[in-house]
Amino acid sequence: MDDPASKSDEFLREIAAAQSPEELEQIRIKLLGRNGAITALMRGLGQLPAEQRREAGATLNSLRDAVTAALEEAGDRLRRAALANRLAGERTDVTLPVLTGGIGAIHPISQTIDEIIAIFGEMGFVVAEGPHIEDDFHNFTALNIPPDHPARQEHDTFYLPPRPDGSRMVLRTHTSPVQIRTMQAQKPPLRIIVPGRTFRCDHDATHSPMFHQVEGLVIDRTTHMGHLKGCLVEFCRAFFAVDDLPVRFRPSYFPFTEPSAEVDIGCSRAGGELKIGAGGDWLEILGSGMVHPQVLKNCGIDPAEYQGFAFGMGIERVAMLKYGIPDLRTMYDSDLRWLRHYGFLPLDIPAPVRGPLARGAAA
Ligand code: PHE
Repeated sequence: MDDPASKSDEFLREIAAAQSPEELEQIRIKLLGRNGAITALMRGLGQLPAEQRREAGATLNSLRDAVTAALEEAGDRLRRAALANRLAGERTDVTLPVLTGGIGAIHPISQTIDEIIAIFGEMGFVVAEGPHIEDDFHNFTALNIPPDHPARQEHDTFYLPPRPDGSRMVLRTHTSPVQIRTMQAQKPPLRIIVPGRTFRCDHDATHSPMFHQVEGLVIDRTTHMGHLKGCLVEFCRAFFAVDDLPVRFRPSYFPFTEPSAEVDIGCSRAGGELKIGAGGDWLEILGSGMVHPQVLKNCGIDPAEYQGFAFGMGIERVAMLKYGIPDLRTMYDSDLRWLRHYGFLPLDIPAPVRGPLARGAAA
């Protein structure tokens, strides 16, 4: 049998010279594996005469312990070196100028949704969502639109094929069903906004079969029409970044609100150019009203205890008005030239205090 003591130096030198965790593992197998050198020495102990076995065993044990300790230490060293290497390789110089080219642009619809969320978020609204494929109850009946109601005709509904029970699901024609879903699932007070896709069978320069709305709903014990007005006037002025923007509430009708009002903002069309702000003309931008008591009842909320307001707005429409986009259909053309022109820098995150929403900032 080789002298273990003389082997020790050779083994330790080999371990110390390992350059990578993989190489070290090969050495470990060569020494301590099933057919490893030290394992073989251990096995050889059995052939020794009993008097020598004890001493040789002790020597071999300390050789094995020394090798195990050296392997562990070398493993730590190599792992630390590998990590340091990786960190050095992935180093980012945060002082370099920002790269803005080639990283795409934010679509005006996404930008507008973010802006709307930023403004209502400041007022304490939280975002809620619901399914695009709705049942008749949530899209119509619970909103006080029974099957024979004329309002159903106005919605140009896309119906899905009938289900076994004869009922048909619909592509939601507005975001209002999320009012119902939220009131069914949560207890008031509620303060939500619901941006999302909606669908109507209609297609021309100002209508698309798929478009976006944002719904708002506030339910509390004392919420009244004054809150609705204050909230929407504040929104319009913040969104269009015009401090003294005229806002008008015009009586209207929706089956799910009573009273109902459509909201117009002031504009001027002088010289054929549309300008948002004072100027004697009006533009309709959203529908609103106090939630109908029957709608509250349909959701298990007692109208003697709670009341509130709701509103709904077309996102494409306000985006076109704010950013001067003349044709709705171009929004969905996926034309990169259009997106480069009307899109937004990904780094321009909307906020009420800076960026495209900032008001009163020094010009
Ligand atoms: N859901 C209505 C529409 O699509 C808008 C609306 C929502 C009106 C909430 C009043 C209250 O036209």
